[in-house]
This record gives sequence, structure tokens and C-alpha cells, in this order.
Amino acid sequence: MARKVYIRTFGCQMNEYDSAKIADLLGAAEHLEPVATPEEADVIVFNTCSVREKAQEKVFADLGRIAPLKRTNPNLMIAIGGCVASQEGRAIVARAPYVDVVFGPQTLHRLPELLAQRRASGLAQVDISFPEIEKFDRMPAPRVTRATAFVSIMEGCSKYCSYCVVPYTRGDEIYRPFDDVIAEVAALAARGVKEVNLLGQNVNAWRAPIESVSAAGGRVEADFAELLACVSEIDGIERIRYTTSHPREFTQRLVDAHTSLPKLAAHVHLPVQSGSDRVLATMKRGYTVLEYRSIARRLRAARPGISLSSDFIVGFPGETEADFEATLRLAEELNFDQSYCFVYSRRPGTAAAEFADDTPQAVKLDRLYRLQGRIDAQARAISEAMIGSAQRALVEGVARRHSGDLAARTENNRIVNFPGEARLIGQFVELRIDAVLAHTLRGEAIAREPDARAA
Ligand code: SAH
Ligand code: SF4
Ligand code: F3S
Repeated sequence: MARKVYIRTFGCQMNEYDSAKIADLLGAAEHLEPVATPEEADVIVFNTCSVREKAQEKVFADLGRIAPLKRTNPNLMIAIGGCVASQEGRAIVARAPYVDVVFGPQTLHRLPELLAQRRASGLAQVDISFPEIEKFDRMPAPRVTRATAFVSIMEGCSKYCSYCVVPYTRGDEIYRPFDDVIAEVAALAARGVKEVNLLGQNVNAWRAPIESVSAAGGRVEADFAELLACVSEIDGIERIRYTTSHPREFTQRLVDAHTSLPKLAAHVHLPVQSGSDRVLATMKRGYTVLEYRSIARRLRAARPGISLSSDFIVGFPGETEADFEATLRLAEELNFDQSYCFVYSRRPGTAAAEFADDTPQAVKLDRLYRLQGRIDAQARAISEAMIGSAQRALVEGVARRHSGDLAARTENNRIVNFPGEARLIGQFVELRIDAVLAHTLRGEAIAREPDARAA
């Protein structure tokens, strides 16, 4: 019987991406097949997140729940990766001695070796180092299961916002080489992928040397706008997204790309965090509200109708009611679409951990509900305005609930369920929007784009 691996993923899309790679790696190196429950597994992998305290505590609570499985299966291996692993390292083994392997986001490619060493030595293995770009070099070719794929273009973060653990858990920014990104996208396109989402903590910081085609020769640097232009040239790729961008390096060249590259989705996730300059300064975000507004205005001029979404932190140390109201006003003024709002969570080791966290929890929660309520209402209004319109959407698979229906994603990141045949999966369809439900839209296919490949 084939041996099995259970992978649980916490946190962001970087972790989702890494978990897919871990599954591929363990499939190739150890012939492990993925399973849906920890009880069936021979190897359990937790890919963890430490961005907020709650996320981190959830990891240890869930770990405690799987520990007893070792009694029924003494050969069971438990491996902890991701950002908690990176931050806590050996302390995890001290707190949870049944853990066999601890690996970081930059050493996940070493997981098969670490498991082998653990079996050979009987000792827990910990490797949370940052071995430069090695991670990108040692990955198996991506497996394609859907019409859309993530492509990691950078690792880490060098921004050091005062509240955030990511630079500590994932290391400084490293950009994936130009040729690697292009080769991966081309390989995905050749296997039928129609949409790529270029992934990283601050994708618009990406830059990399390329061979110059100028008469003078030599090497020049490409920036993110140029990477987008090159990805857009790849046959078969019809829609391009990127997550997450940062206001600090949002250049005019990138704004202009939204005019010149029709394949770029008319949707940008651009976290603002706060609408108060004073708070933005103590967060060390490196931009003002005015600068953020200017990016939003230029993006909307570059691509009319573009949808903007954001992340917010409420209850940051020192945030007053007036600061918060400035955030509310900004959210309303820029008419943000579906966004994420978080209560500030103090993270040990970050600069803000030293600030007096003086806002009572009840006040923080009240701000969270007010802001989330405002944004949810805006997102709902945007959805309702789509009723009767035609939307180009990529069919991602069968609908979760309505059996027999398909689910497709619009440019502005909404799921539309509609009746259709399974052969449409992986195709772009033209949908008319009929209704807005709690989390999805309903629609009907009005046309299907001819599939170049099938011709
Ligand atoms: N690199 C991205 C976001 C990475 S983390 C950016 O800078 O925009 C995702 C979101 O988690 C952040 O945008 C922020 O809103 C939230 N976040 C990060 N650290 C947090 C903390 N200590 N407390 C609460 N929310 C936090
Ligand atoms: Fe964290 Fe700031 Fe980096 Fe985003 S830009 S990952 S919030 S340090
Ligand atoms: Fe969490 Fe690490 Fe992502 S802390 S949000 S998993 S980068």
C-alpha cells in the first residue's frame, strides 16, 4: 500500500504555494500520496503562519491534537514548516517533543533529506537556515491541476514594517531570476494554464538582470513592469494577476502596464493598512495617505473600472479614534472592494512589540466591525452593480454547493456559479450576472471563447 502524507496549510498564498511544492517533492522523493485526514497519514506536515498571535496558537493547538496518533502509528513522522518553524526553530521540539522535523520556508526542498536523517539518527532534525536562492533551483516542475496557477517570483521581505514578522521568518527579499520565471510560465501555458498569479510579499519590488539586446551589450536590469510585459507575450496566457504589491514601489511604469497590457486583470490588491499619516509613519510603511491616493487615482485613470482591494490593521499602538476615522474615510473615498481587516497583534521581536499597546480590546474590535462593515457594504454594492452585465470569467471547476453548476472567477475576483458542462472547465466564458448571493454570484453563460488549442 502506498505511503501517505497529510499537509495542513496555515497563512498566506506563499504558504499555499509552498505546500503544493512540498506535496510534489514528497511525491517525487518518497512516493508519498496526499490524503485528506491526519489519521490516514505516515507523514504529517504543518505549514505554519505566525503573522498574528491567533494563527500561531492555532498551530500548537492543532499539533496537540495529532500528537496521540503516534501511539497508534509509531512510524508516523511529524514535520513543521513555515513561519512559526522559522521563528521558533528548536523551541518547537522543546515544546512538542514528538515533532520529528522542523524546516523553514527557505529549506523546504531539504525536507526529504531531513526525514531520512531523522529516521537514520532517531533524533529530531531542525534546519531553518536561509540558503539564498537554492530553494528555487531545487524544485520539481510544477504540477498542473487547474486553469490558473501561482508562480513565485520572489521570496522574503525587506520592508520591516514595525508590526510584522515576515522579514524575520522568511528573510530578506530575493528575486527569482528572469529566465526561470519566464520558463515556468511558458511550461504552465504549454500544459493549458490560462491564468498566472505572480506571487510574493512585494512583487513590485522584483527586479533582475537580463541580457541586454542593445548594441552596447552588457547586462541591464528588468523591473516588474517589464516582467509583466514579457509574461504577457507568452502564448496561451490570457490573464495575469499579481499578489501582493506594495505602495512604496508602485512605479508609473507599473501603472502604465495596466493600460498597455490588456491581459492584466482589472484588479489590484494594494494594502494601505491605515488612513492616518501618523499611524503609517509609526508602522514604517514608507508612504503617506496622499501618495497612496495618487496611486489609486492613476490606476483608475490607467484602467477605468479597475477594482482595488486592501489590507487594514486597526488598533495599532497609539491609534486614536480620529486616526481610525481617517481610515474609515479613506476606505469609503477609494471605494475599496473585498478587503481584509485585522486587529493589531503584538509580535515578539518586532519593533512595534516595544510600543505601548494602549487601546482596549473592546475598542479594537469595535473598530474592526465598523471598518469591515463599511467595506462589506461597498463590496456588496459593487457586486449588485454587476447584475445584468456581461463578465469574462475563467471556469475554475465545479461549484462547491449547487451540484451540476460550474464556478468561474471574474476579473474583479468574484466567483460566479452557473449551469454548464464540465468541458468548460479551464476555459474563459462570457457570463451574464443574474443575482448576488452571500459569497458568490449567479450567472448564465452567454458565449464561450473559442479555444485556440482545440482548433
Ligand atoms: N506584504 C504584504 C502583506 C503581508 S501580511 C504587504 O505589506 O502589504 C498580510 C497582512 O497581514 C498585512 O497586510 C497586514 O494587514 C496583516 N498583518 C501583518 N502583521 C500583522 C500584525 N502584527 N497584526 C495584525 N495584522 C498584521
Ligand atoms: Fe510585512 Fe511590511 Fe513586508 Fe508586508 S511589506 S510582509 S507587512 S514587513
Ligand atoms: Fe503567515 Fe508567513 Fe505568510 S507569517 S502570512 S505564512 S509569510
